[in-house]
This record gives sequence, structure tokens and C-alpha cells, in this order.
Amino acid sequence: MVLAALGLTGAGLTRPASPAVPVLVPTLRSLAAADGISFGAAVDVSALLGDPGYATQLGAQYDMVTPENVMKWMYTEPRPGVYDFRAADALVGFARAHGMKVRGHNLVWFEQNPVWLTRPTMTPGALAGALRRHITAEVGHFRGRISQWDVVNEAVDDDGALRRDVWSSALGSTYIAEAFRWAHAADPGAVLFYNDYGIDKPGPKADAVLALLTRLRREGSPVGGVGFELHLGSPADFDAGALAGMMARFAAVGLATAVTEMDVRLKPPAPAGALDAQAVDFAGALQDCRAQPSCHTFVSWGYTDLDSWIPGTFPGFGQALPFDAGLRPKPAAYALQSGLAGPRPRPPTGAARR
Ligand code: G3I
Repeated sequence: MVLAALGLTGAGLTRPASPAVPVLVPTLRSLAAADGISFGAAVDVSALLGDPGYATQLGAQYDMVTPENVMKWMYTEPRPGVYDFRAADALVGFARAHGMKVRGHNLVWFEQNPVWLTRPTMTPGALAGALRRHITAEVGHFRGRISQWDVVNEAVDDDGALRRDVWSSALGSTYIAEAFRWAHAADPGAVLFYNDYGIDKPGPKADAVLALLTRLRREGSPVGGVGFELHLGSPADFDAGALAGMMARFAAVGLATAVTEMDVRLKPPAPAGALDAQAVDFAGALQDCRAQPSCHTFVSWGYTDLDSWIPGTFPGFGQALPFDAGLRPKPAAYALQSGLAGPRPRPPTGAARR
């Protein structure tokens, strides 16, 4: 009813509602909770508000949500100083009603910024002021309701250099430390993450991000975690050993680690072998997280093939998530269920669980 009052019911849903489907039991969320893992999915709020089947399966199987888009700057501050948190509040309200944690995503990024922010007239000082006010307002609005924030998203290029974007062009790298400082001041209880892709294997980007976060922590920054996005181009794209190694390197400097956006693209109609290979990847990433004492968060970027960014961004690809377009569990969902129910892999020796 609250959502109707906001005029948000069915906001933007452009497809029929899903049929009711049987719930996978034991549920993934019950197994994850027993295992100390926050098990989440990115949420398309228009589907959440407009498709009861989508909402039911989400609430049954997941105990963490993150907004796919509605907490990004273009939606939360469309005009300078004018904030709109209605869609994000609807997601947070759903989470609270279903006993779910919330990952905030994201506060500063090179994409999905409002037009006013990127006008040539924005001086470096004006940009820094806008960033401080935005972070203070948004994190303050959700204070106490969000357990983790992706504060800085994808600030490092594949070659390890600072990404050339609206932020670094005007402010160099200083905006990164400032963003974490402002977020912490607005909600000291939230764990603050740096989030990126392409850091799950050794290489110049992973090394640069590790060096950046190590420096920030040495300088007293409140950055508390690193998110491994894991958008995999195919099942062959995943290296469980490499991810485990990278998680250990970031944990060694005192950071929490998390899988934050996992999906594994396939070419529809995917044969059984591809679905099984996808399941091996999801299970492998989950096991890496469970084996790493610093990892307590495992999130896929969406949960059903019915609503995924993949087909629109990678034409000819899809079927990237653990549940199919009919909200039915795929081999990946069963592999996650077995993984969560299985014995915890032996953590690295000498690693005290955080
Ligand atoms: O809201 C408009 C709608 O009004 C319009 O009708 C429609 C068609 O043009 O576009 C809608 O905006 C789209 C938006 O998603 C909301 O659905 C944008 O075109 C589209 O580009 C945008 O894509 C999002 C993408 O970030 C932007 O780069 C994806 O949904 C979202 O899944 C994706 O998520 C990112 C993470 O935030 C960071 N990590 C990478 C990940 C994948 O790119």
C-alpha cells in the first residue's frame, strides 16, 4: 500500500507478471544465514513493484538486495540539491519487510550521472562540493538502513592507471579518499567498499587497486572492503584459484572481500553443458568466498534471466543468472544450494575469521 501511495506500483514494468513458481527448499537464504553469508541480488525496482512473482521468489531466496540502478546519482539527485529517493526507499522498505540487508550502490562512478554534473561550467571546486553534498545527503538519508556501500565504483582502468573520467580529470585521485571520508561521516556504521571488475585475476589493474586501497588504509581512510564484480563473458572466464588468491591479497591488508555482481553470460538457447559449466562457476566463486574469512557477501547482478542487463548490453548473450525467465531454479541455483549446505572449505591456515 505504501508503494501505491508513492505512485510507484508497477513503475515502468513493460512485461507481463510472472506465474507463481514453487520455492526452492531449503531456501538459499536459510542456508546462507546458517553459513554467515549475506546472499544477495541486484534488484530491478520496476520488476519488484510490478511483478509479484519476481518479488516473492526474491524474498524467499535472498537475504540481501542491492539496487541495480535507483541509488545512482542520475536518479537520486536529478537536479542540483533536488533529491528523489522514492524508488530506493521502496527497495529498502521491501528489504526491511523481508528481513533483508541492503548494499547501497553506488555513490561515485563515471556512468549514470545527471547531466548537470557533467556540464563544462562545473569547476573542480564546484564538482568536489557537489560530490560532498551528494554523498552526505544520500548516505545520511539511508543512515542505519544500509549495511554496505559501494562508495567508489570502477575508478581504475584495465592498465592500472586512474580512469580518465569526470572525477579524475577535475580532481585527480583525491576524490577517492574524500568520498570515503564523507560517506563514513554520514554513516559510521556502514562498511564502505571500493567496487570493480577485472580484479579477480592477477594483473596491472588488480595490482593498482590493491596499491590504492593499501595506501588509503595506511593514511587512515575508512575504506573497509573491496567488491569483486565477476561479470563473466563465458563459463571459461572464471578462475577459482585466481579469485581465491586475489581475495587473500586484499584480506591481508585488512579489507573485507565480497562478490558483488556475479553473472555468467551464455549464448541462448544454452545447451545443458553450458548451464552446467555456469553452475560450476557460481559454485566456485561461492566456495572461494566461503573459504576466505574476510568474505561474508555473495551477490549476483540480478537473480532471474527475466530481468538482466546482459541481453541489452551484449546482443546474442543472456541466461546469465541462477534462475530462469520463469523464475525456476537452473543448475546454478542448485549448485549454490549444495555449496551453501556443504562443509565450509578449510580457511587459509592462521586466518582468523573476521
Ligand atoms: O531509465 C531509462 C528508461 O527511461 C529508458 O526508456 C530506457 C531505454 O533507453 O533506458 C533506461 O535507462 C537504462 C538504465 O540501465 C535503467 O534501466 C539505461 O539505458 C541503461 O544504460 C542502464 O544500464 C545499466 C548500466 O549499469 C549502466 O551502465 C544496467 O541496468 C545496470 O545493470 C548496470 O550495472 C552496472 C553496475 O552499476 C556497476 N558495475 C557494472 C554493471 C553493469 O554495467
